[in-house]
Amino acid sequence: MKKAIFSMAALATMTMAGAQDISLPAPDFGQQSTSTIEALRTRHSVRSFSSEELTEQQLSNLCWAACGQSRDAQHITAPTAMNKQEIRLFVFTKNGVFEYDAKGNKLVSKAEGDQRSLIAGGKQFKQDFVMDCPVSLLMVIDFEKFGSQDSHAQMMGCVDAGIVSENINLYCQSVGLATVPRATHDTDGIKALLKLTDKQLPILNNPVGFEKK
Ligand SMILES: Cc1cc2nc3c(=O)[nH]c(=O)nc-3n(C[C@H](O)[C@H](O)[C@H](O)COP(=O)(O)O)c2cc1C
Repeated sequence: MKKAIFSMAALATMTMAGAQDISLPAPDFGQQSTSTIEALRTRHSVRSFSSEELTEQQLSNLCWAACGQSRDAQHITAPTAMNKQEIRLFVFTKNGVFEYDAKGNKLVSKAEGDQRSLIAGGKQFKQDFVMDCPVSLLMVIDFEKFGSQDSHAQMMGCVDAGIVSENINLYCQSVGLATVPRATHDTDGIKALLKLTDKQLPILNNPVGFEKK
């Protein structure tokens, strides 16, 4: 209870003072969840969300499930080609944009303010339901980390991002969160905001929240 009050106070401070780094609570490995089989059987895309916020604990669990540190310091929950771990995870909230630091278990501030419209889409196509979602997770392939940007590296980057996304899909299904994997977003706008180079490519995103009943 004390933790929850502290967490809500931290979120309120963050809103008032602009985005700052956020130390996440340790992932809860004892949380209630359905079986993998049940998550696979029932997983589905959701495109209608309530505005209910995730707690910091839920955000920590979610980022960990996506690509957090797993059995030791060298491994993460998502397998990657040659263990390059080239998928970077960015978290868009109404308060700002953060990068998930798996080793430090924290969110590192990258941009202030509500930037979720960049995840909703670009000039050609936009999906407004994303603006109702408290959190969107963006996967960026970092070819610098992969050590190459040739056609093989590009293929591996897409595969690895897909695996991170499926971690998110199955995790959400197993704990009662809602999500949809999406390739729609404003690539140029995101690259400008996050000062990404041509070796870093936004590729997939997962808005996450609670289904509107
Ligand atoms: C690579 C990929 C890109 C997708 N892009 C979008 C998208 O931009 N917008 C969207 O609403 N759904 C998107 N989807 C979700 C699919 O439409 C959805 O998974 C599919 O219709 C099957 O439905 P289900 O997820 O409920 O089984 C994407 C799915 C994948 C795997």
